[in-house]
Amino acid sequence: MDRLTAEERIRVLREQIEKHNRLYFIEDRPEITDQEYDMLMRELQDLENLFPDMVTPDSPTQRVGGEPLPFFEKVEHKTPMLSLGNAFNEADLRDFDRRVRQIVGNQPVRYVCELKIDGLAVSLHYENGVFVKGATRGDGQTGEDITQNLRTIRSIPLRLTRPLTLEVRGEAYMPKRAFEKLNKEREERGEALFANPRNSAAGSLRQLDPKIAASRSLDTYIYGIGDLQGETVESHSEGLNLLESLGFKVNPERRVFDSIDDVIEFTNSWTEKRPQLPYEIDGIVIKVDSYAQQQELGFTAKSPRWAIAYKFPAEEAVTILEGIEVSVGRTGAVTPTALLKPVSLAGTTVKRASLHNEDIIREKGLLIGDHVVVKKAGDIIPEIVAVLPERRTGSEVPFQMPTHCPECGSELVRIEEEVALRCINPMCPALIREGIIHFVSRQAMNIEGLGEKLVAQLYHEGIIHSVADLYYLHQQREVLLQMERMGEKSVDNLLAAIEASKENSVERLLFGLGIRLVGAKAAKVLAEHFGHLDAIMQASEEELTRIDEIGPKMAASIVNYFALPQAQAVVERLKAAGVNMTYKGVRIEGGEDLPFAGKTIVLTGTLASMSRQEAEEKIARLGGKVTGSVSKKTDLVIAGEKAGSKLEKAEKLGVAVMDEAGFLQMLNERSTP
Ligand code: IVH
Repeated sequence: MDRLTAEERIRVLREQIEKHNRLYFIEDRPEITDQEYDMLMRELQDLENLFPDMVTPDSPTQRVGGEPLPFFEKVEHKTPMLSLGNAFNEADLRDFDRRVRQIVGNQPVRYVCELKIDGLAVSLHYENGVFVKGATRGDGQTGEDITQNLRTIRSIPLRLTRPLTLEVRGEAYMPKRAFEKLNKEREERGEALFANPRNSAAGSLRQLDPKIAASRSLDTYIYGIGDLQGETVESHSEGLNLLESLGFKVNPERRVFDSIDDVIEFTNSWTEKRPQLPYEIDGIVIKVDSYAQQQELGFTAKSPRWAIAYKFPAEEAVTILEGIEVSVGRTGAVTPTALLKPVSLAGTTVKRASLHNEDIIREKGLLIGDHVVVKKAGDIIPEIVAVLPERRTGSEVPFQMPTHCPECGSELVRIEEEVALRCINPMCPALIREGIIHFVSRQAMNIEGLGEKLVAQLYHEGIIHSVADLYYLHQQREVLLQMERMGEKSVDNLLAAIEASKENSVERLLFGLGIRLVGAKAAKVLAEHFGHLDAIMQASEEELTRIDEIGPKMAASIVNYFALPQAQAVVERLKAAGVNMTYKGVRIEGGEDLPFAGKTIVLTGTLASMSRQEAEEKIARLGGKVTGSVSKKTDLVIAGEKAGSKLEKAEKLGVAVMDEAGFLQMLNERSTP
């Protein structure tokens, strides 16, 4: 096919696909079968493969999610993304109505009522009808650029029905069914569960890898215009109709009323109907319809005077406390969890509730077999709010907190003023196992495919004894293959994920070691400051406390930890396995004057005087960040012997090049170890 014909066919295909997308994902009335849709997509994909320069960001093929990003860019909101004042009852709503009428005088007031979708606010920018940028709300002034992730949401049009330039705002959310399915899969893989659909939507959109967002069945409802060029709209309801006609998904349950009584009735009716919706709502948003009146009403410091959010009362349900499970965490803390007869609450099935500690059980006088009231307010994990003693039958039994560790049998202790009981046996299998689970978790070494269940299995079968053993697992391929549900492919994937984690910047390792009081943030600060794990291990308490964010308790905990021979042995084995020990991010604090501060550097060819890993470490210590390929964003290429295409590309792009001698001279000047 020649270029011109291809170009035309690509245009037609995109238009058709976008139309069928709209019919399927927005209007819920598909006109073609899935197979027919797939055929259109395949034809477009084939043509784009033939003519890759014709791929544009608004092509429907781009919804699958491209390459992961290193970080999110910041986006300033031209008009701030405000939040709303709350109303909790009828009286609050009548007060709101009174305030509105006082300001607008004797004119009639109309209110638009909309469902308050429980997801996260997003802002979408279109230029000449093409989706160009999308951002989170952030602090209201500045959000994060999550365009790549938003592009994967099918209900966000990549091209509007008319070439308008505008910014719209709405809510990205995860439907209840998708949420339950996701959590079920996560449970099977032994991964941490999301507390509610809102967290899972937010978690999905804040992933740097857009393929994750693409796999998460997210959806949107658009509820407002931030900025519109070349067109005027008189009222909010008219604006919503315009948005709908442009191809946005606008919630159909919106209504316009002219009295507060009708508004109140609407809120009451949704309090009842809310569980039947396929998505979560946490209230009703009430907005003055007329834009002229909105302007007259204006804003307070935090929110508009022309709108308010009515919040539903927290949902409660009665169920039976069937048992109490006691588990030991990585710090040895023993926590009881209530096992409940499954009950449906705010759209999800509740089976467990945290009891935090023993005192709560005593305070509430809980007996096993009791009828209890469970509540889930907003994003809070379900909790037991009350016991119903009047419903006791006499068969209920008191719960006894164990005196000995359920896993290793050693006596539990209560440390100083802490409420929690702890197992303090450092060899307790629960502590070690939970420590490994923490090490591989997302915020730490982030080893994909190594969930809680698999870690527990590897540990209990004696295949691993410590975190360091993970990096020697490739020597036990045959043993892994013998394990249940471990085929060639899953073993290869697992080993590849472990191998890849060796390259992590050192703060992940530091956090993963699970040193008491050292959270992810402190680990980052330490890594940034010291640049190398050795330097952290050698630091004294005084040196550590000199850093702003590090207090004396944390400093003591770090020094004590690295003084332990077991800790040193683990680090030695990790090092021997090739796990990176350096900070790879851009150094910020105290590092501004380093020669490579903030610079992106590419290494190419072979260096005679050191290995690649050594060179990377040295660059990191000088404040630089090493990346794999040369682009306009590269600041410097360090070229060794037999440097090939990367050097050529650097020269073509005019990127600075340094040879090994120059690099060594720089190192000498800075006398890095
Ligand atoms: S209007 C200035 N309409 O609720 C008014 N917000 O505190 C901006 N939300 O973060 C909000 N559904 O993300 C509006 N139909 C709706 C909404 C809605 C959900 C969220 C929004 C915002 C929060 C308001």
